[in-house]
Amino acid sequence: MVDVAEGREAEFHDLSKAFQTILERKGYGLFGMFRDEAVPTRYYAVRQWAGVTAAETCHGDVEVQGLTSKLYTMARVTHVVNGVRRPDPLRLMLDDRRTGGVEPDRRTGFDRRVADREGPEGERRNHRDRRLGPRRLRASAGDVDLVSAARRAREHADAAFSRFKVGAALETADGAVITGCNIENATYGLTICAERVAIFKALSEGHRAFTRIAIVVDSERPTPPCGACRQVLWEFGGDLEVQLANLSQEKGTHRLKDLLPLPFDARLL
Ligand code: THU
Repeated sequence: MVDVAEGREAEFHDLSKAFQTILERKGYGLFGMFRDEAVPTRYYAVRQWAGVTAAETCHGDVEVQGLTSKLYTMARVTHVVNGVRRPDPLRLMLDDRRTGGVEPDRRTGFDRRVADREGPEGERRNHRDRRLGPRRLRASAGDVDLVSAARRAREHADAAFSRFKVGAALETADGAVITGCNIENATYGLTICAERVAIFKALSEGHRAFTRIAIVVDSERPTPPCGACRQVLWEFGGDLEVQLANLSQEKGTHRLKDLLPLPFDARLL
């Protein structure tokens, strides 16, 4: 699913044509681009690979990579569902054990990084996010108690200077929960917030698609993420649901796009 920056549709159409021409000329497979009926700047790009090797060669093709970097100047790839798996014997073995059979490798989420699309990820959709797209593995958001996970993570906060302990819990598209807490430093400036600890941990463990983040503090007023965290969460998590809470109550839910209006991101580069 591709969201094109307003006013760049014509360029995007030209680029799609170029993608299609290369894919078909080089025998990588077929390519189709479909416009969403409801959202004029939204498109669905469908690639049907000639085979696993063709897909891999295509990803490594410098001509294709050139087009892909051009794409990122005018659009954001909002969801990715990848039906092609790498023939990695270890992964096949692990997947076999987990699922009892060989399932297609599905990845979803705000994944702008075409070179890194391996690893089974879940599917994304929760009841508040009714955009067309792949389903999450879990039935609905809320079946993971994210706030409790953030409360527990907060207990590990190292806030020796501010005494302001923060916990965060990030839900991945396949329902895993990755937590973080703030960790302060005597130089102050090296302090890192709970939210960024959570997302960097998740990214470093190979997660690339996210649905929600919960943020917990011990105060009556909820703590929304700081500006730096909003930027990082937006880049890697897209329009996350942001749940704010304290130690006893939930204090409201926001969408990240409302907390970070007019964002700077890869579409502008
Ligand atoms: N902090 C967070 O961890 N997350 C936020 O969203 C706001 C601030 C931390 C950073 C610092 O350790 C302390 O809270 C006071 O700013």
